[in-house]
Amino acid sequence: MSGLILVTGATGKTGGSLIAQLRQKGLSYRAASRHATVPFDWEHPGSWDAVLEGVASIYLVAPGTVKDPYGLMQDFITLAMGKGVCRFVFLSMAGLAAGGPAHGQVHQWLKENTNDWAVLCPSAFMQNFSAGPSLATIRDEDRIYSNTAGGRVPFIDVGDIAAAALAVLTAPAPLNTEFVLTGDEPLSYDEVAALISQACGRPITHVHVSRDEMAERLIKRGIAQATAKLLAAGYQMIAAGTAEHTTNGVRTLAGRPPMRFQDFAKANAGAWQRAE
Ligand SMILES: NC(=O)c1ccc[n+]([C@@H]2O[C@H](COP(=O)([O-])OP(=O)(O)OC[C@H]3O[C@@H](n4cnc5c(N)ncnc54)[C@H](OP(=O)(O)O)[C@@H]3O)[C@@H](O)[C@H]2O)c1
Repeated sequence: MSGLILVTGATGKTGGSLIAQLRQKGLSYRAASRHATVPFDWEHPGSWDAVLEGVASIYLVAPGTVKDPYGLMQDFITLAMGKGVCRFVFLSMAGLAAGGPAHGQVHQWLKENTNDWAVLCPSAFMQNFSAGPSLATIRDEDRIYSNTAGGRVPFIDVGDIAAAALAVLTAPAPLNTEFVLTGDEPLSYDEVAALISQACGRPITHVHVSRDEMAERLIKRGIAQATAKLLAAGYQMIAAGTAEHTTNGVRTLAGRPPMRFQDFAKANAGAWQRAE
């Protein structure tokens, strides 16, 4: 499908990478977020009309900083359909089923109310260590905190998620399905700490904390309380060993093997260096 693609979360991890890939392919897009050229705020419906003009398809990212973005997203999609937007690609999360809590609400709503949708369910992002909550603690304390214990997760690179999103947004026909996207190697947070240590040249340690302490740490970093609790619950699932599963989603959609954590760590070693 061709036409103008609206990218929400445009200044974020997957949205930013998607925009870079759209630009590289010469496809037309509009970047939307509070700090994008055309300002868009999920919490201010007055900003919605302007970004929807002439749009054919939308990449939807629920921001973790908004308390309950799911009802707002449904209102936004309804407005978009009224303006002729045909395709919706929603970024959910591995382990969150349609009809379940949080992102599962939007997933189910898309299934029931739209004719051309796809849902991407990625595992935890590699970039959580280079741009998210763990970056500051790695750089400043040589530590990664989590309540994952020895549990493993096949971390995924956001460039691979964006490549999958691009394939789905430009697919010739509606897909109307979900894709679970993962890396190839399930890794524990201890193993991640070892790979980051190798890449940045000093020892980084994984510190296991309780689920409540983890949620508190995320809230202190500006994550909405409900999202922080959801993330800490997700970490608990990793600890329980239920997040180890790998899929062929990246190969199927992006046509290449997923990024290895070792390569990600080498490429991002600069992010973990301390300012002198
Ligand atoms: N991190 C993971 O491991 C992981 C794994 C699976 C799924 N996910 C999902 O990925 C999504 C993105 O999470 P992330 O933490 O990686 O964030 P991100 O995409 O890196 O950043 C959030 C984006 O949302 C925008 N935003 C924030 N508040 C907004 C508002 N009120 N209105 C409009 N835009 C707003 C931000 O831009 P502005 O500041 O410019 O507004 C930014 O572009 C979440 O839905 C999360 O559940 C994450």
